[in-house]
Amino acid sequence: MYSLVFRTVILRLDPERAHRVAVRGFRYGRVPLAVAHALRILPAARHAQPVRAMGIDFPAPLGLAAGMDKNAEAVAGLVATGFGFVEVGTVTARAQPGNPRPRSWRELDVKGLRNQMGFNNEGADAVARRLQRLRSTRRGRAAIVGVNIGKTKATAPEDAAVDYAYSARVLAPYADYLVVNVSSPNTPGLRDLQSTEALRPILERTRAAADEARTGVRVPLLVKIAPDLADEDVDAVADLALALGLDGIVATNTTVAHDRGPGGLSGPPVRARALDVVHRLRARVGEKLTIVGVGGVSTAADAQALIDAGADLVQAYTGFVYGGPGWPARINGALVPRGRSPREPSDALSR
Ligand SMILES: Cc1cc2nc3c(=O)[nH]c(=O)nc-3n(C[C@H](O)[C@H](O)[C@H](O)COP(=O)(O)O)c2cc1C
Repeated sequence: MYSLVFRTVILRLDPERAHRVAVRGFRYGRVPLAVAHALRILPAARHAQPVRAMGIDFPAPLGLAAGMDKNAEAVAGLVATGFGFVEVGTVTARAQPGNPRPRSWRELDVKGLRNQMGFNNEGADAVARRLQRLRSTRRGRAAIVGVNIGKTKATAPEDAAVDYAYSARVLAPYADYLVVNVSSPNTPGLRDLQSTEALRPILERTRAAADEARTGVRVPLLVKIAPDLADEDVDAVADLALALGLDGIVATNTTVAHDRGPGGLSGPPVRARALDVVHRLRARVGEKLTIVGVGGVSTAADAQALIDAGADLVQAYTGFVYGGPGWPARINGALVPRGRSPREPSDALSR
């Protein structure tokens, strides 16, 4: 059904317009989605296995990666599709329009996407207000929401730590976890912040700001890295994360290692390197950090491979675009979290 809609409707829309329509659909679609689940039009996520990580009980291992719900407009609807959690953002300290259009392309031959959005978002204050409203409802409080923060384009690199800290202070009260994004290819100089000298003060100030904002509650803090980092740099970020007492690492963002035009490529072309990075990170950090694997998940086997390589949690963006609203529950229903054995055959058959 979704593949028909994808071919006949979605492909006719420019990708950014399709994205707007989808976010609006999920924003207003929580009730219809619930009805669709009840009528068994969509697979239910009730077979998903929970994961405990960073002191949080995630109802399922697969969550929505950052970038789709940049302004936290559609969290409840997205959770209703069967994602175990939703990472909103990237949110920057100040609102900004992002790069000029066009800035998003489908790469149909590889079932990928390419984008150079440039962190278009409404800014930390506006997103905080929206999350505050979300958290004022029972359903909104039950959703596991990560908040991904990035540097405002107009902020100079030397002021990056202050910029991230501002967002952390404003958004921590509503976040189950925070992610410092230093890996998007579409803000000039952002990825240079992955060097340990640049990253250390950003992570320290972000940690401090989150703690000031929420006394008595320690909001887990993660860092999101690029697949294009050299292996030694992956190790260096892992070592820094351990040294600073971070909670985890999200690996990976989109890749610039392609010749398809401007922007970062996502989907299957990122899969092998994301798997590699997850494996490397797990070998480096042992059980001390939570690893969130992301990149090229199209099937349950892809997600399971990330888990088997060491990811506690997985995320997807592109696979959801190509898979449609029934996709997250289907994938989550098939995943076996780390350290757990597959379900008994009789249980699996009853699905
Ligand atoms: C259109 C688009 C926008 C994205 N925006 C963000 C973003 O704002 N922040 C971020 O950390 N990652 C962003 N990403 C990267 C995804 O979160 C994810 O790391 C990457 O796409 C690899 O996963 P995938 O292959 O499942 O898409 C974006 C990806 C796409 C395709």
